[in-house]
Amino acid sequence: MFAMRNVRKRYGDRWALSGFDLDVEDGQTVVVMGPSGCGKSTALRCMVRLIEPDSGSILWRGRSVLDMSNDELRAYRRRVGFVFQRSNLLSRLNVLENTMLPGTMAGRTTVEARRRAHDALERVGIAHLASARPQDLSGGEMQRAAIARAIAQDPELLLWDEPTASLDPILVVDVLRLIESLARSLRCTMVIVTHEVPFALHVADKVVLVSGGEAIDEGRPEDVLLTPASELARQYSKSLSYFTGNQEEKAASL
Ligand SMILES: Nc1ncnc2c1ncn2[C@@H]1O[C@H](COP(=O)(O)OP(=O)(O)OP(=O)(O)O)[C@@H](O)[C@H]1O
Ligand SMILES: [Mg+2]
Repeated sequence: MFAMRNVRKRYGDRWALSGFDLDVEDGQTVVVMGPSGCGKSTALRCMVRLIEPDSGSILWRGRSVLDMSNDELRAYRRRVGFVFQRSNLLSRLNVLENTMLPGTMAGRTTVEARRRAHDALERVGIAHLASARPQDLSGGEMQRAAIARAIAQDPELLLWDEPTASLDPILVVDVLRLIESLARSLRCTMVIVTHEVPFALHVADKVVLVSGGEAIDEGRPEDVLLTPASELARQYSKSLSYFTGNQEEKAASL
């Protein structure tokens, strides 16, 4: 239902994406992993044309995203939710108003946008913070508010760019649990950029490893990460055995 084919994006003389391919089926949860600077955020932003690729094709339900008119692009983006590494909530609006914003911008009535926003805040467990300002929230609460804003419009495609990267380890687990429960309860398709190997093993239908601006390895998480075929997969696999293996495996992972 969603596909990227040979997508390329260059900054100056550096290729951020050098022929990126991705296939995501309806309802699938796909985890994208790879070292810093390999092009993960660029790929995610290209999916909704927050960044315009130089070439390649992006298909959503058979439609070419790169050929959409402004109106078509707006309609497409309304069906996509985005959660960034750091929640970019507006400080002059409270949590409820922030969560309502995509709904009102999509032309919903205030009553309907508020109802959806409230439901979303309940879902992520912070309905009691509806009237708080983002700057008065903890990091975890702020990220929950950003998640509520992304799910309030019942997105068909939900994109996550390292949603736990700015959180302390306790909050990381907290937010990963929330993402897992959303992955299981929402009917939407998810693409999640994260470095959390156990999470990928536990939640992903498919893992895609990225290096140097292209997808170099992909498959079921247990195949990619537990019987690694690429050097990058071996590194992720080693990082896992450092935490979960016996003494011998731990020593081998160092
Ligand atoms: N606006 C920009 N101008 C110039 N170079 C950029 C820009 N955005 C990204 N890049 C470069 O493109 C490459 C890919 O960046 P990107 O942010 O997609 O990587 P990433 O995989 O998301 O990394 P990280 O894990 O650190 O978030 C990097 O080399 C980066 O320096
Ligand atoms: Mg990034």
